[in-house]
This record gives sequence, C-alpha cells and structure tokens, in this order.
Amino acid sequence: MIHEQTDLTTSEAIRPDAQTSTPDDWVYLGRPRRFDVDRDGGAAIVYDAGVTVGVAAVDDSVLRVAYCKTVGEWPTTSPAVVEEITRRYSWRMTQAETHVLLECDAGWRIQIDQDDGTWRIRHTGFETAVEGITWYKRKKGGALAFASLEDARFYGLGEKPGPLDKRHEAYTMWNSDVYAPHVPEMEALYLSIPFFLRMQGGTAVGVFVDHPGLSRFDFRSRYPDVEISTDRGGLDVYFIFGSSLKDVIRRYTKLTGRMPMPPKWALGYHQSRYSYETQSEVLSVAQTFVARDIPLDAIYLDIHYMDGYRVFTFDERRFPDPARMCLELRKLGVRVVPIVDPGVKQDPEYPVYMDGLAHNHFCRTAEGQVYLGEVWPGLSAFPDFASEDVRAWWGRWHRTYTQMGIEGIWNDMNEPAVFNETKTMDVNVVHRGDGRLHTHGEVHNLYGFWMAEATYQGLKAQLDGKRPFVLTRAGYSGIQRYAAVWTGDNRSFWEHMAMAIPMVLNMGMSGVPLSGPDVGGFAHHASGELLARWTQMGAFFPFFRNHSAMGTHRQEPWSFGPKFEAAIRRAIHLRYRFLPYLYTLVREAHETGLPMMRPLVLEYPDDPNTHHIDDQFLVGSDLLVAPILKPGMTRRMVYLPEGEWIDYETRERYQGRQYILTHASLDRIPLYIRAGSVIPVNLMENPRQTQLGWEIFMDANGRASGRCYEDDGETFNYEDGAYCDRVLQVLATADGTRIECHLVEGSGEGGSQESVVRLFTSHEIREARVEGISFSIRL
Ligand code: GLC
Repeated sequence: MIHEQTDLTTSEAIRPDAQTSTPDDWVYLGRPRRFDVDRDGGAAIVYDAGVTVGVAAVDDSVLRVAYCKTVGEWPTTSPAVVEEITRRYSWRMTQAETHVLLECDAGWRIQIDQDDGTWRIRHTGFETAVEGITWYKRKKGGALAFASLEDARFYGLGEKPGPLDKRHEAYTMWNSDVYAPHVPEMEALYLSIPFFLRMQGGTAVGVFVDHPGLSRFDFRSRYPDVEISTDRGGLDVYFIFGSSLKDVIRRYTKLTGRMPMPPKWALGYHQSRYSYETQSEVLSVAQTFVARDIPLDAIYLDIHYMDGYRVFTFDERRFPDPARMCLELRKLGVRVVPIVDPGVKQDPEYPVYMDGLAHNHFCRTAEGQVYLGEVWPGLSAFPDFASEDVRAWWGRWHRTYTQMGIEGIWNDMNEPAVFNETKTMDVNVVHRGDGRLHTHGEVHNLYGFWMAEATYQGLKAQLDGKRPFVLTRAGYSGIQRYAAVWTGDNRSFWEHMAMAIPMVLNMGMSGVPLSGPDVGGFAHHASGELLARWTQMGAFFPFFRNHSAMGTHRQEPWSFGPKFEAAIRRAIHLRYRFLPYLYTLVREAHETGLPMMRPLVLEYPDDPNTHHIDDQFLVGSDLLVAPILKPGMTRRMVYLPEGEWIDYETRERYQGRQYILTHASLDRIPLYIRAGSVIPVNLMENPRQTQLGWEIFMDANGRASGRCYEDDGETFNYEDGAYCDRVLQVLATADGTRIECHLVEGSGEGGSQESVVRLFTSHEIREARVEGISFSIRL
C-alpha cells in the first residue's frame, strides 16, 4: 500500500464517514521452532510462520538481521551497501531455562526469550542494548518493534520535515514530489534514508533498514517504543553499535560509503532561478554579480534552456551559442549547472528517445510496453536506470554538456515525479536490474540514486580527471557517494527557513554531508528581510544556493534595494571568508562521514540542553551559528555549550553552559567561536583571490589548535596524496606565544605557501605574515 497523504484542501477531509482505518496485517512470529548456527558464517532462527531470520556479524559493531527464504539464503543487498564483508564469524548456541543465547566471536550476544520469543541484542564491547525486539510477518512485507526508554531521542531518517528529535513522529520512506507547502506532518518528501540513531541513557545505536521500496518508521504508535515496517519483501536490518552518535555515523557511512571530494566551487555561492530564460539573461545576471562585488561560483539553467524540455538539447532561439556562453561565464569565474530530468520526450524525431527505444533502455510495463508518463515535455519515457548499460548510455549523453566545459549537473524530478494520481511511476513497471527483474514498487527509492550515479559516472569519464558535481532531489541511502542534495520546493516562509535547520542536520546525521535548501525559498514571494536573514544562515549551510520559482518576486541579492543587498553581500563574503574552514570539514566528511553542519547534541551529547536544539547549529566543532529566524527581530537567545565562546564580531567572551541574549541588526548573524580553536579563513573573502589566514582564539589555558586541509580543489590527485593537511598549534609561554604549523598528511601540494597568522587577545589583534608550509614563530 502506498501511504497516501490525506487531501487537506477542505474540511471534507474530516467528514465522519471519511475516517478509514487500515487493516492491521501484522502476524507476530512468536517463539522460534528451530535454531541453526554457524551455517555460512551466520545463524538462523526458524519460525513456524514460514519465516527464517538470519543473523550475521558484519564485524564487531554491525550486526545484520534479515528475513531469509531458507537457512543461509540471504536477501540481495541494495546498492546502498558498499562495504565488503571479508570475515565470517562463527556462532554458538546455549540453551538456558528461560532463553536461548546465540553468541558469536565478534562479540554479539542475542538472547531469545523461550516464553514470549522477544529478542535482546547486546555486544560485549558496548553498553548499548536493543531490547524487547519482536518480529512480524505481513501479507507482503515484514515488521519489527523494540523497546525504548522515555529519555530516548531519535535522529537521522534523512530528509524529513519537523523537529530534530523524531520521537512522537512517524515517517514513510517513499520518494515523493511534494509541491504542497512542506509541513511537519508530511511523512514523505523527495529522498528517503531508512536509517536513524537512537540516543538513550548516554548510549548510541543506529538502525538501518535496507529497503528501497516503501517502509515506515513509527516513533509514535507505541511510544517510547519503535515500530518499523516494510510493505513488500521482508526485512533486512543492520544494528550499528557505537560508543557515541559520531561513532555510529562513522560506522554507518563505512557501510554505505562516503562523499568523494566535491570540486571546491561546489561550496561557493550558487544562483538559480526557474528560469533564466535566455543566454543574454544568464550572462547579464553573472555580470551583475561581478559589477556589484558579490562572489558567485555557479549559475543554474532550469528547464527553459531546453528545446521543448527535451533533455540534452538547447533551445536555439533562447540559447543560440551555449558553448560561448559557458566560455564567457568561465572568464567571470562562473560555472554553469544545467538541469537534467529523467523523462525523455516521446518524439520520433528526437534522437535521445529513438536511441533509447532502439536499445531497449526505457522502463516497461508488466505487459511489455514502454511506460509513458506525463512530465514537462508531455508524454515521456523513463530510462531504466536499474541496469548498468542504461546508466552508461545516459552518462554518455552528457557529452552535450561536458564538451562545452560544463562540470556540474542538476538532477530533478527523479523520484521519479509523474503528473498523475500517484505522482510517480506505476508500481508494477518492471526494471531489468542487472540480471534480476524488480517491480518499480520494490526499488522506487533507488530510481533517483541510480540516476545520480549514472550522471556522476558519466561526467567523471568525460571530465579528464576533474571532479564532477551533481545535485539531486531524490535519492536513497548512499546517495552521498554521487551527489549533493537540495531539499526541494520549499517556500519563502520564515517557518521554512527555520525548518531547514533540523532537516539538513538530520540529513548530515544520515550520511549526507552536502545538502541545503533553496535559500530565500522557492515558491511564494520573498521579502528583502527574509532573503537577507536566509542568506546569512545559508552561508553556513553545506550547500548554498539561492533558487526561486517562476512568477515569484526576483531573488537575486540586489532585488530588494541597497539596504538588503549590503546585508546579503556581507553574508556571501562571510561564506568565502570561512571557505578554508568549510573545505577542511568537507575533507573530514570525506574521510569519516561526519557531517559538516552539526546539531549541538552531536558534540555535546552529555548536556541534556542540547538534545533538541534545532534553531542554532554548529559548523564542525568550532563554529556556532545562531541565525535570526523571525521577521522584525534583532535579538535572540543563544545557548552556548560547555567551554568558552567568543563572539566572532565583537570578540566578547562568554562562559558556556548558559543562554545569552544576543543582538543582531540586519547586517549581522550571530557567530561564536569555541575558545581554543584556530580557524583557517580566506582573508580576501573571494573565490578567485586567496590569502590564507589562521585566526587564533586562545582558551583560558593559553592554548589553541586547528587544522587546515587544502588541495588543488578540482582534480582527483588528492587520492594519490597531492594535498596539504596541516595543523597549527598555539601555546602561550612566559616569553610570548609560540605558534607552530606542520604538515600532518599529504605531500604539501596545493597548500598556501604564504599565510597570515592572526592572534586575537582580549584587547588587540597581533598579526604576522609567514612563509612556507611548515613554520614556527613567536607572536
Ligand atoms: C521542480 C524543482 C524546482 C525546479 C522546477 C522546474 O519543481 O524542484 O527546483 O525549478 O521543478 O524545473
């Protein structure tokens, strides 16, 4: 069953006879009939209901539990999972009076109650336990529930509206094109990540349900217990144990992969509009940025660039010479990112359609006809991205763009969105995956993932060693390996600006480090104040793009007059100031999977005040951002966690573990630096001129340290060690402050040879220009 969102247009939705209840088809598996250990390196628990539950240790922090057809016959893992399982661990079984204990040499202990059949999963290395687990069979799918305590907090679940902590909420994983204003009760948006973290009594555990069809995560019905169900196929669950939330995120992203280094320009300011409709309009917008001293790294082409919305074409009237346009933009330092949707117009004179037909590359109905659905170009066919051949074919079409010097592509409508009743492709459409047939219903949430993969690989093959950039709307677990994500069609509402914080924080905790909303809001009309405040906030989000819809007030930085333009310019400059710090965090995300933008709870889990703060956030661990989220407001409360914090602008110092009231006139965003940190910045605040600065904020003990990662910003040479990863350490001594900088990793290539060290003391700024990758000075 597809979970339908109720039509909320009128009160008719709540007519007494309109209340329907879905039949509960859950059948409890009960007590096991038989145990089978050490078969194929795993154990199996056989139930009378015709279900066999397989158990295998991936290693000493990940346990896989899945419904198997027979003993040892595991379900196929989805492409989300990339980790090679190299070791087989053997299992032992002991029968006690009240329970059966399954143990394995990776440290896992599964205790199954003889009376009621509930499970308890523990591990010798961790305090965590998952208790009171019950397993169910459904008509077509599976389900489980487990116990949680009142103090449990739930994070992750990918792109979901609503608060940071997901307790009392319920969500559906079914990629959905939602244009209606996003509200907290929407259970499904464009991208689905069936993974969450539970923090309880100081312990952390992650649960990943590898199910690319429909699944549901319910933290409400049995609150505080958790209920998870799938609507077809069985269950394939990974329990991830760790010593902290961070540890679990690292482990989950080892399982599902991490983000390759994006090109540095992907972190800059991006400007978009639905649509810049002509070549001269695109050029003139970019020139205006230059003329007004507002840095810009990329400009987007929405659907109007195409000839009748046919992908891989340009409208010759509106864009007579796109290659020249790209060249001219590059001279201004601006990249072009065109949109590419999956729908291929049904048109016998259109080569992409005819080629796809000739090679049988489109999805087909169960009856064997090419599936056609209505999207922007009219009736369209949809590439069957499930198969590698089709992905390679799609990738090759990107020559259209790469030959013009285009290095970034924007994938939209890839849920896939179809203009019909169900808003997507028929669930009975057949995908010819590699060697296996799947109905669309089984793999729906992978469609956008596969499309992003096709795009990324296609670009990579054509870019001569340069890093591609892909932005996607839809995706599934593991999407971070191919694309950055934006959160779809939000509106120019203050509420949507505020909602973007928990949304992007939870995306980060779900393994996707590079994401962001349409800054200024897509639909509805922005105001100067909203755009200024949103740009200030967006400047500290991982992905920073301003985008707005046709028919809404223009949203370029200068659209609301000089007062707002000045505030917006200042915010975008600040983005470029902090870029070396952000790029270092990108490197950390690439290496460890940890998000760039972090909720306070990730860094300060022991402080209960942080557990649901989602109106302020951390960037890395050293920068705290407290945006103004309401119109007319110039003051707000800020919670500063443990330690000492320094207002970036006024240099005022505050003790942590307290709320402070801060003042922020229109041109200011409250930023706080953790005392004891060193922030690498670009003193030129501009993408084309760089002057690396090390800004030092000493702690009370006269110490500080920080890291700066640099490389060429555009090739894969970093994979061979061509990078410069440095640490700067500062220590106040009796005869001055000693500052030492040294290379900790990499060849040093791409590192700034010259930099400026700036030391902020309570009453002055001391500054020195230094030469070389490594240096040692006294200030
Ligand atoms: C969808 C996208 C939006 C885009 C529009 C036209 O609504 O979410 O970003 O501008 O389509 O392509």
